[in-house]
Amino acid sequence: MSKYRVGFIGTGKNRKNPSGLGYAMAYLHADGYKQLSDDCEMVACADIVEENARLFADTYGFSAVYTDYHEMLAKENLDIVSICVWPHLHCEMTVAACAAGVKAVNCEKPMALTFGEARTMLQVAEQHGTVLVFNHQRRFGLPFRRAYELAHRGELGALVRMEAAMGDLYDGGTHWVDMLNYFNDESPAEWVIGQIDAREDRRVFGAPVETQAICHVKYRNGVYGLFATGQGMHTLGCPFRLICEKGVIEVGADSQSPVSPDPGPMLRYRVDGVADWQSVDCKDEHLHGPGYIERAMADLVDCLNTGREPELCARHAMNATEIIFACYESSRRRGRVDLPLTITDSPIGAMIEKGKLAGRRHPTPEG
Ligand SMILES: NC(=O)c1ccc[n+]([C@@H]2O[C@H](COP(=O)([O-])OP(=O)(O)OC[C@H]3O[C@@H](n4cnc5c(N)ncnc54)[C@H](O)[C@@H]3O)[C@@H](O)[C@H]2O)c1
Repeated sequence: MSKYRVGFIGTGKNRKNPSGLGYAMAYLHADGYKQLSDDCEMVACADIVEENARLFADTYGFSAVYTDYHEMLAKENLDIVSICVWPHLHCEMTVAACAAGVKAVNCEKPMALTFGEARTMLQVAEQHGTVLVFNHQRRFGLPFRRAYELAHRGELGALVRMEAAMGDLYDGGTHWVDMLNYFNDESPAEWVIGQIDAREDRRVFGAPVETQAICHVKYRNGVYGLFATGQGMHTLGCPFRLICEKGVIEVGADSQSPVSPDPGPMLRYRVDGVADWQSVDCKDEHLHGPGYIERAMADLVDCLNTGREPELCARHAMNATEIIFACYESSRRRGRVDLPLTITDSPIGAMIEKGKLAGRRHPTPEG
């Protein structure tokens, strides 16, 4: 069998010098494909900054470099395209890659800038038979996998409620909301009620995010979720808490708590009526890795070989994206949002543009 021809859109500047808004994620994708050299051959990349593309191509040993990704798609007969640009470009690039006939689009998170774009990506990929995945790579982490097993193996009874603390709903939050869906067996949400505050002009990878939010979700399987972002969220004591009928699971307890001077292990649980927490060995894996992105690439390639649905499929990503946009929409409507969500825009973007958010200190450049 011939190897999958892999191309990249948006290489990033330099992997050795990542910054808060310049992670050069394409290098992490490429490191994953490199480990899959029996199946994959990296052949081309496109970046509007030619120097970025050249450095990337030199690093991975190929020569086809483009500054126009359309030209790359037209000429390179690619099977897999990794899209590693900021979210406002995810939709147009995914649509173009699907139309060019690639077998798989491996797009970075968050899905898109607006809910309508996210839906379009899903529809276009389906129309073209393209496998579309989003890099919510934590699904491959041991702390998360073992937490899932704990929540479902019966000892703690059924999952009742999930709590989570995150920096914001849209950017980091897309990972967090996605992990909660993973813990909850992908049950779609039934309704979302939330409120946001965006008094600071915060943008992550160009996208507006809130300063603070509270979000309450009811999932169709009867489980509830309560998430907080921004100020005070650390007081939860851990990024994820899963409350079951007969006990509690905490993921990432050692990662962040100012209220807990002696924080616990990466994964722990407590059975009702038993005083001590039990810690679970996660083999030095933590909230962010290592190895999660490599496993995500391997899963995608295995899915192309076997035809099964990838763990990071667009269907899963859409479940998380719907909850995130529904929380912003709830803030705009000042009421509960019953799903499915039918909006097409970005409620937070629209509220900022129209000056509808209370207490906003810094106007955006546009307004
Ligand atoms: N999965 C994760 O854990 C994770 C972590 C960090 C970032 N991300 C996501 O990865 C994505 C990329 O972030 P990054 O930090 O790697 O970005 P980056 O700024 O390091 O790289 C983006 C590259 O895209 C190029 N680019 C911009 N417009 C282009 C165009 N029209 N055509 C071709 N190239 C273009 C830029 O020149 C730049 O080199 C974002 O969506 C971000 O949210 C994911």
